[in-house]
Amino acid sequence: MSLEVNILNQRFENPFMNAAGVMCTSTEDLQKLTASASGSLITKSCTPALREGNPEPRYKMLPLGSINSMGLPNLGFDFYLDYVTSTHDYSKKPLFFSMSGLSVEQNVEMCSKLKEIAAEKSVILELNLSCPNVPGKPQIAYDFDDMRKYLQAVSDAYQRPFGVKMPPYFDMAHFDSAAAVLNDFELVHFITCINSVGNALVVDVETESVVIKPKNGFGGLGGEYVLPTALANVNAFFTRCPSKLVFGCGGVSKGEDAFAHILAGASMVQVGTALHSEGEGIFARLIGELKEVMSRKGYTTLDEFRGKLKVIDN
Ligand code: SIN
Repeated sequence: MSLEVNILNQRFENPFMNAAGVMCTSTEDLQKLTASASGSLITKSCTPALREGNPEPRYKMLPLGSINSMGLPNLGFDFYLDYVTSTHDYSKKPLFFSMSGLSVEQNVEMCSKLKEIAAEKSVILELNLSCPNVPGKPQIAYDFDDMRKYLQAVSDAYQRPFGVKMPPYFDMAHFDSAAAVLNDFELVHFITCINSVGNALVVDVETESVVIKPKNGFGGLGGEYVLPTALANVNAFFTRCPSKLVFGCGGVSKGEDAFAHILAGASMVQVGTALHSEGEGIFARLIGELKEVMSRKGYTTLDEFRGKLKVIDN
């Protein structure tokens, strides 16, 4: 049995990696992920300069997941560029680089600097178009004209294949429109679905209060709550963007969840809330559980069932 994934000119031992934002801000975090059983890892979404992020409390565990409004705390582009250039051990596993400039110009500036190192070190860019947590900055991918501007500018500046981290959509018309924009950009080679379900509100009835401080308690929902929404988005883009890869992110805490993501069309499977709760040991567990599901069903590779989700015919 093999969980190997061969995509983007790279070989991944298995499809599992962290979701950008979880356990990936410092060198220590990134080295823990490199030493773990994951097939890959991604750095924290960065901005040109260091950001402290939003005031605490800004992350809260919930019975079936989490709510967060971190606000892109990160050590700044140069720190992650240095990690990519001098620290990461590429013989262990391939590396993704998440970028979340707060304007077109910031992304262009960072892409122009990343481009040469990316050619040399084969690090792979995931452009975050979906952070819901920066006060006053709407999620880019909810405005299709804006999204097109970002993709055009990044394509022109970067001139290499890259991926995009998308927010969840909830309407067929929006799946169609977003996919049509993405299909216009040849350099977009993968689509990661989904970022957290933005601007949820959790209420603690005992204290009669919200549970996180930023944005008066509004924040991104993750974990088990969002699995069906994540699967819908993975499958919607898998069927609408046949020349692109889809990465699944959202609600993965056991092997069966990963199986469902791959069945819906995912090539890589990112883990966020459950990694935050359980630590990097989760990857060995997920690998074992995914293999168990595959063995029960008689599959020996991921290619045998990826994207083969059945629908109910009469
Ligand atoms: C954050 O830092 O607020 C989370 C990043 C994201 O959701 O894109």
